[in-house]
Amino acid sequence: MTDTFKKKSDDEPAQPSGLRKSLTSYGDNGFSLFLRKAFIKGAGYTDSALDRPVIGIVDTGSAYNPCHGNAPQLIEAVKRGVMLAGGLPMDFPTISIAESFSQPTSMYLRNLMSIDTEEMIRAQPMDAVVLIGGCDKTVPAQLMGAASAGIPAIQLITGSMLTGAHRGERVGACTDCRRYWGRFRAEEIDEAEIAVVNNQLVASVGTCSVMGTASTMACIAEALGMTVPGGASPPAVTSDRMRVAELTGTQAVQMARENLTIDRILTAQAFENAMRVLLAIGGSTNGIVHLTAIAGRMGYDIDLQALDRMGRETPVLVDLKPSGSHYMEDFHKAGGMATLLREMKPLLNLNALTVTGRTLGEEIDAAGPAFAQNVVRPFDKPIYPQGGIAVLDGNLAPGGAIIKQSAANAKLMEHEGRAVVFENGADLAARIDSDDLDVTPDDILVLKNIGPKGAPGMPEAGYIPIPRKLAVKGVKDIVRISDGRMSGTAFGTIVLHVTPEAAVGGPLAHVRTGDRIRLSVSKREISLLISDEELAARAKGSPVTIPTADRGYRKLFYDTVTQADKGVDFDFLRATQTRGVIPRR
Ligand code: FES
Repeated sequence: MTDTFKKKSDDEPAQPSGLRKSLTSYGDNGFSLFLRKAFIKGAGYTDSALDRPVIGIVDTGSAYNPCHGNAPQLIEAVKRGVMLAGGLPMDFPTISIAESFSQPTSMYLRNLMSIDTEEMIRAQPMDAVVLIGGCDKTVPAQLMGAASAGIPAIQLITGSMLTGAHRGERVGACTDCRRYWGRFRAEEIDEAEIAVVNNQLVASVGTCSVMGTASTMACIAEALGMTVPGGASPPAVTSDRMRVAELTGTQAVQMARENLTIDRILTAQAFENAMRVLLAIGGSTNGIVHLTAIAGRMGYDIDLQALDRMGRETPVLVDLKPSGSHYMEDFHKAGGMATLLREMKPLLNLNALTVTGRTLGEEIDAAGPAFAQNVVRPFDKPIYPQGGIAVLDGNLAPGGAIIKQSAANAKLMEHEGRAVVFENGADLAARIDSDDLDVTPDDILVLKNIGPKGAPGMPEAGYIPIPRKLAVKGVKDIVRISDGRMSGTAFGTIVLHVTPEAAVGGPLAHVRTGDRIRLSVSKREISLLISDEELAARAKGSPVTIPTADRGYRKLFYDTVTQADKGVDFDFLRATQTRGVIPRR
């Protein structure tokens, strides 16, 4: 027996590291290690290489996921960083999820990806892990999985796509996708032009170029302290992005050596910082669902009412579409997160630890001085005076609902109207463009059964299209309400995440066409204007059948998925111990 396979001596660390971790169960650990090394040597490794700290690199490259189209280059750069720091890089695949290639919806698969990520981190030997993600659900899935796995972890964002141009106008996915599609539906542009625009909206690989969910989660990951400083904003195809990747690899080795585990980063302070940033960037409404799920993995509950109070003192400072006018590449040139965090300093927990082993405050100070730019506004000159997301309450949503007020129409935020109800997505598709649809611009469109269990997977169908008969008359917005989500790139006066959802018998299930509904964003109210007795009578008269399935992942999903206020995670994946409520009171 060589030294390599000797049993541990007394002065060896209590916890195995490197290739000795997570040994396969053969009933003889010496043999397990012997066999493992024999097989990996089949790939040409030396004992010297195999004795180094092992850094796992999660490869989510996929031909189906152009948002991760730079994964091969990123992996190469991470490996370079790992090896420069004396580690052994080991890349491995997990599920990859791209928004427009996921049926029924990417959210249906987020928890599956988190399980895959968690279990592959647990199953394979690694002292730290680099999580390469970018498209909307991938970063939350990876942070959820890594939070549960518990080892040192660092997030590497794939980076945003470049912008294109159409007839002199700068365009980028996907706010402009929706805007041009709306113009096409309204017959303002023809088929030839919409085909030309289609070539320009996504000008390179990378994630959506506005402050959609992907960019939101990138900013949140950096605010949580889970990326190297400046890791959120470099576009996918830039040298800055590759340098971030190399630094990420180097930092992962340092984290492995110091055993800087994820629970030391994902603290209550870090989550509060992330919530502040979500509000200040005018971030995607999906961000709150994902943040709730990640926090749940660490044993924290998110208090939506307290988040709303936080929003009243956290203005939107980042001028990016859909709340503003710029794109992610502009945010990067404006200094990225350092510029924003510097403006927000009085609101942040500066002592929160980051993956560098330094605090967020130390990283902000190290980022250098501010400079003139027009993408991140000064704190006293915001683009919107409150946080981007407001939390609504009322008899229509006893568990809460949200609205992205910074991307809503100011004229419609105090509005009472007649409900025009669609029972589900199929009903909507069948009738929304009908000339017979009885609808006016003052009505309120209500879409049921697109919540976590309803669709299933809570699809981004909450961005209900303007009925064609109104769109062709120039109507650009109308109040819309659903138990679903909407893309972070979308805009309009749209109430989302109505909880409990219709499919489990929430009040939304009992709304009828012709009912009156009141929305008051200033009062944080969403009310169905019928009596409690009438609502109870309707619930009794038409009870809902909660959907289920016979087998497979769909059965697991239906049986265990939680509501929006719990992050739409599976109930059994949440941490077993509750640590507290965020934001802390
Ligand atoms: Fe992947 Fe927008 S579709 S980030």
